[in-house]
Amino acid sequence: MTPAPGPRLHLKPGQAYHLINHGPCSLITTAAGGERNVAPINWTMPVNNDPPLMAAAVEDGITTYKLLKASGEFVINVVGEGLEGKVLACGRCHGGQVDKFARFGLTPAACRSVKAPYLLESLAHIECRLVGERPCDGVTLFIGEVAHAEVRESLWNGKSLVMGEARTLHHLTGGQFVVAERVVEVPKDKIPV
Ligand SMILES: Cc1cc2nc3c(=O)[nH]c(=O)nc-3n(C[C@H](O)[C@H](O)[C@H](O)COP(=O)(O)O)c2cc1C
Repeated sequence: MTPAPGPRLHLKPGQAYHLINHGPCSLITTAAGGERNVAPINWTMPVNNDPPLMAAAVEDGITTYKLLKASGEFVINVVGEGLEGKVLACGRCHGGQVDKFARFGLTPAACRSVKAPYLLESLAHIECRLVGERPCDGVTLFIGEVAHAEVRESLWNGKSLVMGEARTLHHLTGGQFVVAERVVEVPKDKIPV
């Protein structure tokens, strides 16, 4: 249950993202010109469902940024409990300098609609083609249209992920993650009108 209202603490503007940081943790895979890469890009979100659009905020100049700009494609890999160490490891080095797939034991597999690979270890992946971008002070918000999406069959109940099984990772801060597993369902007749 949400605790009763009490005094509210003022955060610094730069701390505000911690309040909504813990969306599903995603490893973004990219490829261009014979190079391929994987990096945690947590600031990824849906923008629309029709047309289906996804956004990712990527720091200018990192390998993911370069490959995304060169190819116009990116793949969002949704990851679950067990991969947290690899997520952190992939966020500490650059694809231009190290083959993160080989170094951290992540398996690239062929996507259906884009040249970038998806990760066999992911629970689900979303293949996106770039349709827009907005540079913002050292970071670029890339918008991609979903060309194809897949999820492990056993983790899909027809409408959403089976959370108790998927145990998706949600990055909180530093080396801390939340694992989502409990669903709270509101019966239609209990929604206040
Ligand atoms: C959990 C986690 C989440 C991250 N989220 C983002 C993000 O949303 N955007 C970003 O540009 N970098 C993010 N990073 C940092 C990049 O992953 C990091 O700069 C990485 O080394 C980039 O690799 P690359 O040069 O191979 O693309 C995150 C790192 C971690 C560990």
